[in-house]
Order: sequence, then structure tokens, then C-alpha cells
Amino acid sequence: MSARIAVLISGRGRNLQALAQACADGHIPGRIAVVLSSRADAAGLDYARHYGIEAAVLSHRDYPDRASYDRALMAALDRHAPDVVVLAGFMRILTPTFVAHYRGRLLNIHPSLLPRYPGLDTHRRALEAGDAEHGATVHFVTEELDGGPAIIQGQLNVHAQDTEGSLADRVMNEIELKIYPQALAWFARGEVVLDGDAVRFGGRRLDAPLGLDDIEAAFR
Ligand code: GRF
Repeated sequence: MSARIAVLISGRGRNLQALAQACADGHIPGRIAVVLSSRADAAGLDYARHYGIEAAVLSHRDYPDRASYDRALMAALDRHAPDVVVLAGFMRILTPTFVAHYRGRLLNIHPSLLPRYPGLDTHRRALEAGDAEHGATVHFVTEELDGGPAIIQGQLNVHAQDTEGSLADRVMNEIELKIYPQALAWFARGEVVLDGDAVRFGGRRLDAPLGLDDIEAAFR
């Protein structure tokens, strides 16, 4: 099976690039059917268009409220009949209606070791708390913000000299760009599924998220 993938972005699109590359390399059995951005100035849009991926902007400013924006987003997505909707730096909170519509096929990456630091400014908060470890998590999206069942989580050691910027870069390069393509590959192969409020991996219910050690050679 080749999964039809939709990606939602708002910014630079480094995760989008890693996912597109992994599809192009045949490491993810699927193709990105559409990229939708909440912002017209998202650099990720240029990347998508450069590689011939259909890309469009849907700005919340053009809609009177969150519900109508999400309805428009769902209509734009469903034209492509996505098997999976991937949030990759999409800076909008989604309505319960949207989340319910894509339940079990809606993934997000969050730059923290969830359940620590849902929401914004995760790198600054980890530094301020003096955390020895920090990282990123790929999870199924449920109604709770950054709270759905985790698929994979990667961690690194915080260095004494780390700044918010250096930590963000290291989390992106050492963790996010590996765990998201891997998680999407597992999902596209049918190896990872949401079962109620739990994740099944290879038929087995996960008690804890998978980790960097579980990543296949193609994604390291
Ligand atoms: C990433 O850190 C992601 O975890 C967060 O937003 C950032 C998006 O970066 N949700 P990019 O657009 O993929 O470069």
C-alpha cells in the first residue's frame, strides 16, 4: 500500500523536508499528496512547490471563527482522501470536531519529552527547569493539547553551555528529523495503530513510547 499523506505546516518545514525525502527515498511507503500552510510566508511552502508537491495556504484570517476555519481545512484535506494527516509545526489549535474526524490518522511532533511541557517555549522551559535531558515526541493527536498517546520519543543530554537556540537546533537535527520519518513509516506500513487510548506496535500494546534505539538503520 502507498499511503496518501497530507502535511500541515506554519513555518520552516524542516520536518516536512525530512518526510518528503524519506518518501522519495522509498523509506516511507507513501507520497505527500498535499501540503497546507496556515501562513502565506511559511518557508516550507517554497520547498513543497519546488519539489512539485501540491501546496496551498489557508489563513485563519479569512474565516470568522475557529470552527469555520477547521471546516475549510477538513474540506481541503478530504479532497485528497488522506490516509494520514501529519502536523509538522502547524501552529494552530484544532477543534474537537477536526480531531475526531481524523482520529487514529492524525500525528503530531512536539519538541519536548511529553508529558513534560505541552504548549509553547519548550526549550526555554526545559533550560529554566535545569533539566538534564530534553527531546521530542511523536504522538497521535487526541482532544487534549499535546496529550495524545506517544509513539516514539527521543532524548538527548542538555549541555551546560546550551542556549534556547542551540537546544532547539540539536533537538531538531538529532531527534525530530529522525523520529518523525520513522513514525510515519511505521504508520504507513500499518505497524503502528491507535487502539482506544493506547498505541499498538506490531500488534503489541505499548506501555511506554518507542525510543531512539528502536529506529531502523534507514532513519538514523
Ligand atoms: C518543530 O520543532 C516541531 O516540533 C514544532 O514546530 C517546529 C517546526 O519546525 N511543533 P519545522 O517547520 O518543521 O522546521
